[in-house]
Amino acid sequence: MPMIPQAMYTMLACARIGAVHSLIFGGFASKELSVRMDHAKPKLIVTASFGIEPSRRIEYIPLLEKALEMAIHKPDKVIIYNRPNMETAHLTSGCALDWDEEISAARCHDCVPVSSDHPLYILYTSGTTGTPKGVVRPSGGYAVMLNWTMSKVYGLQPGEVWWSASDLGWVVGHSYICYGPLLHGNTSILYEGKPVGTPDAGAYFRLLSDHGVAALFTTPTALRAIRQQDSEALLGRQYHFPRLRTLFVAGEHCDRNTLKWAKQVFKVPVLDHWWQTETGSPISATCVGLGNSLNPPPGQAGRPVPGYNAVILDNNMKEMNCNSLGNIAVKLPLPPGTFATLWENDKLFKELYFTKYPGYYDTMDAGYMDNDGYLYVMSRMDDVINVAGHRISAGAIEESIISHPAVADCAVVPSEDPVKGHVPFAVCVLKAGVAETFENLAEDIALIVRDSIGPVAAFRKTIFVPRLPKTRSGKIPRSALSAVVNGKPFSITPTIEDPGVFAEIEAILKHKKVTS
Ligand code: COA
Ligand code: AMP
Repeated sequence: MPMIPQAMYTMLACARIGAVHSLIFGGFASKELSVRMDHAKPKLIVTASFGIEPSRRIEYIPLLEKALEMAIHKPDKVIIYNRPNMETAHLTSGCALDWDEEISAARCHDCVPVSSDHPLYILYTSGTTGTPKGVVRPSGGYAVMLNWTMSKVYGLQPGEVWWSASDLGWVVGHSYICYGPLLHGNTSILYEGKPVGTPDAGAYFRLLSDHGVAALFTTPTALRAIRQQDSEALLGRQYHFPRLRTLFVAGEHCDRNTLKWAKQVFKVPVLDHWWQTETGSPISATCVGLGNSLNPPPGQAGRPVPGYNAVILDNNMKEMNCNSLGNIAVKLPLPPGTFATLWENDKLFKELYFTKYPGYYDTMDAGYMDNDGYLYVMSRMDDVINVAGHRISAGAIEESIISHPAVADCAVVPSEDPVKGHVPFAVCVLKAGVAETFENLAEDIALIVRDSIGPVAAFRKTIFVPRLPKTRSGKIPRSALSAVVNGKPFSITPTIEDPGVFAEIEAILKHKKVTS
């Protein structure tokens, strides 16, 4: 579903009758959709006829039909919401119900009471390859946590206007476009647009002004996109938004320049805070409603929110001193509203999050805590690449690249990007005897990734090398390879089989044989 009220009606209708929903972001390819269909086995699929991107319409029906063809599980029914004043969309195979007809024939249904641990939704996220990771959200604790955070973290009073500029398909959309503000009695803005290009870099400012927004929640990427197109925010200056008190950012590390720029332009405190799909609400934040200082040091993502006992552990599970970089873990128990399990995979849930550091939740983020208890979240410890605040699995991209008949091996690492923070970068080894040009191969590979994962991966960059660096146990040293790709200093550990490989890759990068 695109960012339209019908998406929220559907979520809320499910919650009303105790049906579990699973929203899929529109930027994923049919294959991703089919994998999730087979895993969640939905009885009903609800879709709109199309979504709108700045440069094109995203026709959802062909995307859905392709996914239905690929999936083994077939839903009992499909409902299509035909967006107004446009041609009507139909499924070419099978029949779909029409949203308007169904709504006009429907009768009101009472709320169905469920136990507090009843699953409200499944939200798929990245982080391990192969098995889909469907985060299961319990109903009761989540409602309590969201309601509490609206006032205590975000400092809002019921009745005020709140805008979370995310997408309903992400956790931020579930928690803070849909459920959180509505539970707390806030008006929530549903924005089917981008920070730039719809129509210009003044759009955010216009919305803040037109709707009297009291607090905005967005990503550093969105702020960088505005700054890139309008560095002095000349378009934004046309608007007055006196009701705005606070700007919250999350989704990725907020660099200091972006933070400084946003403070100057929006003229309110800009507060970075950190959270994950798994937790459903922030792990660390500046809690405005608890009277925290609105001028925390730059680079931090707040202090642990009440309910989270966050610590920095070394690899031997020893708590580290202040300002030392390590693994961020949360001492159990987790607070209400965090994930209950992974859908149909309790084993993976336990193994992935609670085994490495017994007694703790492993956040898989690395960072440090300063003397005042502020957390600085620096990078992921697993294969996740943070692209424009979206979590994309490097392993999943590697899997689809390897499916190209000319590719023998490949590694995907994050490459720095001035707007999106990072984009995926593939380092590929070709099979012997491949005669195709690098340019053509790189184009093919980009298409394969787009077709299997989706445009949201923003995958375009590939280089071809004779061999990849490997450890003696056959693993790719991702952080060293990523440093090479980004022209950063790196250290070669003794476990690397042949350190000379790094120099080969550096030489290829120097000669700009990157195809994008
Ligand atoms: N449905 C279908 N396709 C989508 C989509 C959706 N909902 N959202 C994005 N895409 C497509 C885009 O059209 C683009 O396709 P293209 O390769 O054909 O151009 C691709 O996925 C990448 O999209 P996006 O990440 O939006 O990049 P962009 O270059 O089009 O725009 C920004 C750049 C900065 C404007 C955009 O990344 C942005 O708004 N970022 C903020 C992200 C955010 O709010 N994240 C919230 C996470 S909590
Ligand atoms: P997601 O589950 O898609 O919300 O992504 C969660 C991941 O995004 C986290 O594990 C972090 O790696 C990253 N992230 C989210 N917020 C922040 C932040 N404020 N600072 C640094 N990284 C963040």
